[in-house]
Amino acid sequence: MAGETEYLRLDGDTITVVVAVVPGEYADLVYLGPKLDAHEQLHALHRSGLYGAHESQPDSPPVGGLLPEPKHGDAGPVAVAVRDGAQRVPTDFRPMRHEADGRKLAIALEDAATGLQAQIEWSIEAGDAVRAQMALANDGDVPIAVDRLAALALPVPRRFDEAITYAGRWAAEMQEHRAAIGPRGFVSRSRRGKPGFDGGNWLMLCDGNDDAVIGAHLCWSGDYDTVLESDADGRAMLVIGPALEGGEIVLTPGERFETQAAVFAYAEDRTALGQLFHRHLREEVLPGRAGWGPRKVHLNSWEALAFDMDEAKLIALADDAADLGVERFVLDDGWFAGRRNDRTSLGDWEVSRDVLPNGLDPLIDYVEARGMDFGLWVEPEMVSPDSDLYRAHPDWCLHEEGRERRTQRHQLVLDLTRAAVSDYLFERIDALLGAHRIAYLKWDHNRDLFPAANADGPAGYAQTLGLYRLLDRLRAAHPAVEIESCASGGGRVDLGILSRCNRIWASDSNDAIERLRIVRSWAQFLPLEVIGNHVGPSPNPITGRRLSMDFRAKVAMFGHMGVEADPGSMTDGERKALRAHIALYKSWRDVLHGGVLVRLDHPDQGVSALLSLAGNRGLALAAQTRVAATYDVAPVRMAGLDPDARYRVTLPEPWPRKAMRYLANHESWREGHVLSGRALVERGIALPLAHPETAWLVALERTDG
Ligand code: DGJ
Repeated sequence: MAGETEYLRLDGDTITVVVAVVPGEYADLVYLGPKLDAHEQLHALHRSGLYGAHESQPDSPPVGGLLPEPKHGDAGPVAVAVRDGAQRVPTDFRPMRHEADGRKLAIALEDAATGLQAQIEWSIEAGDAVRAQMALANDGDVPIAVDRLAALALPVPRRFDEAITYAGRWAAEMQEHRAAIGPRGFVSRSRRGKPGFDGGNWLMLCDGNDDAVIGAHLCWSGDYDTVLESDADGRAMLVIGPALEGGEIVLTPGERFETQAAVFAYAEDRTALGQLFHRHLREEVLPGRAGWGPRKVHLNSWEALAFDMDEAKLIALADDAADLGVERFVLDDGWFAGRRNDRTSLGDWEVSRDVLPNGLDPLIDYVEARGMDFGLWVEPEMVSPDSDLYRAHPDWCLHEEGRERRTQRHQLVLDLTRAAVSDYLFERIDALLGAHRIAYLKWDHNRDLFPAANADGPAGYAQTLGLYRLLDRLRAAHPAVEIESCASGGGRVDLGILSRCNRIWASDSNDAIERLRIVRSWAQFLPLEVIGNHVGPSPNPITGRRLSMDFRAKVAMFGHMGVEADPGSMTDGERKALRAHIALYKSWRDVLHGGVLVRLDHPDQGVSALLSLAGNRGLALAAQTRVAATYDVAPVRMAGLDPDARYRVTLPEPWPRKAMRYLANHESWREGHVLSGRALVERGIALPLAHPETAWLVALERTDG
C-alpha cells in the first residue's frame, strides 16, 4: 500500500533537486534545475509535472524513478540486475525508509522476495556537483550475483533533448559529438579495463536552446556502462555505472556491495558547467590541491630521445632544459633494466647500468644543480614476457589457465588483486622513491586488460580496486611525490584516478592543432592545472604536421605546460621563442591555474578561444586552425567580464611573426586599450586571424580607474 508522498529537497548554491518518495511504491525525480524559492510548494511542483495514462500503456504507467527495473511494464534501461546461479532473478524494490538534510538524501529500498536491500544516496558537494551512489546488501539466504548496479539512474528532465558525447582513439582523444536524444538515445561502454580514449564516461545533456546543460560522469578508472534511452512515451533515462557482468560480484548472505560514485551537475551553459566541475575537482577531488605550489614547467625525455638514451645525452638534454627555464626534468621510458625497446623488461624496476653507469643520483644531482627537480616514468601494472619478473613469476599476470596469453605492445598485465604482486610493486617503487630524490612519477598504462581474469575468474573490477590500493599506499608513504595518470595519453582520465593524482597526460599527440581540440574537451570538466600540455616537435611524429614554435608554445601555455621535444634540434629562433613563452607561462600560471575558465565562442569554426580570469587579471588564447573565409575575421569577443568594469587590454609578446604585419596600430597594443567589459563582450577586439596556425594571447587587467 502506498503511503503519503514525501518530498526530499536538496539545495546547492545555485541548484535545487527535489525527489518524491511514495513509500512502498517508488522514488522519482521531481525537479533538477536552478535554485527554487524556499517556499516553492513541492506537492504542486510534483503534481503539475505528472502525465496521465494513454491508450496502449499499462493502466498504472510504471515509474522507473531513481531505481529503474524491468517491472510493471517498464521497458527502459535498468539500474539493477541480479542472478541466483544461472537464473536471472526479477526484483521489485520498494522504498521503505528515507532521510534528507538539505544537502544529502538517502533512500533505503527492499525487494521482499529476495531480501535484497538497496540504498540510493545523493549529496550536493562543492561546485554543486551531485554525487550519486548505490549499494546492494544481501539479507536473503542464497548467494546473489550482481550483473548490474548503477551508481546513478537519472530520469532526464524533459527539457533536455540533445546529448554531447565523446569518441576517440589513441592520439585523437575526446572528439565531441552532439545528437538528439530521441528517438533512441545511446549506449556507451568500455571493456578495456579503463575508460579509454573516447572519454566515454563523460557526457552532457543539453537543452536544444542551449540555455541549460547537465554534465555527468562515473568516477571510476575501470570499465563502465552508460545507457541513455528515450522511449516513445517521451521519457528519457540516463543510467551510469561500473561494468559488472561476468559474475565477478557475488554477494553471499550478509554481504554488501557499493558502487563507485557518479557525479552530475546542472548549469545554464557550458562555461558555467565547466566552472562547477573545476571547483568540484579543486575542492573535493584533487589530493591536497590547496597545498599545490605553482605547476612546474616540465621537460619530458620521450619525444627527444625515446629509447636512445645514455648519460651524456640526458645531461645534454638537462642543460638545454635548464636554459629554456624548465623546472622539472622527467626521465621517460627506457631507464631501467634491459629496456632498450618496447619489447622487454617491464616489471624489472632497477636502474639500467647501460644507460646510467653511475646510477640515477648523479643525473638527479645534475638536474637539481640546474634548478630543476626530477621526475621518473614507470608503468607498474605491466610485465614484459621477456623480463626477470615474468621468468620468476609467470603466474603473476592476468590470464586464463590453458589459454594463450596474448600481448599488446608486447606486454601482459600484472594481477593487482594478488597481495604478493601488489607488495612487490609497492616495495620496488617505494625503494626507488626512498633511495632517490624523485619529485614526480609519470604512471603509464599501455595496454587493454584482456583477459580481465585470473585463476578465480573475472577480475576486472577487483583489478581497478587493486590499482587504487597500490596508489593509495604509495601516496601515504610518499605524500610529497606528484603523480601523473597516463594511459598511452588520455586513456584513463576520470575522477577516480584524479583523486589520487596531480595531473593527466591529455594525449600522446602533441600536435598543437589537435591539442587545441583535445584540451578544450578535457577542460570542459577538468581545470587547466591538471591537463599536461606540452610543446612537441615539428614535424609532429604522429601527424607529420609542421607548426611554428610560436603557435605550439602559445597552445601549450593553456594547461600544465611542458616541453616534449629535443631543444638541441631546434633553431636558435625556436629556442628563443620557447624560452619567452615559458617565461610568459610562469608569469600567468596563477591566473591560468587558479582562475575561472571561460569558453569563448567565435563565428569562424576554425577559431578556438579560451579565457582564464582570476582576480583583476585575465589571459585569453585565440587560435586559428585553418584558412579563414575572409581577410578580416570577426572580432574575438570576451565573456564572463564585469560589463561595468574597465580593463586594459594588451597583446603579450612575442607575437606571431607571420601575422604581425596585419595587426593594425601595433604600438597601441603594446601600451594597451582601456575598454569596458561590456565593449569587450559585445564588440570584442580585432585580431589578425586570417591565416591558419596563428595564435594570439590577450591580456586583461582590470583598471577601474
Ligand atoms: C606512452 C606514453 O603516453 C608516452 O608519453 C610515453 O611515456 C610512452 N608510453 C613510453 O613508452
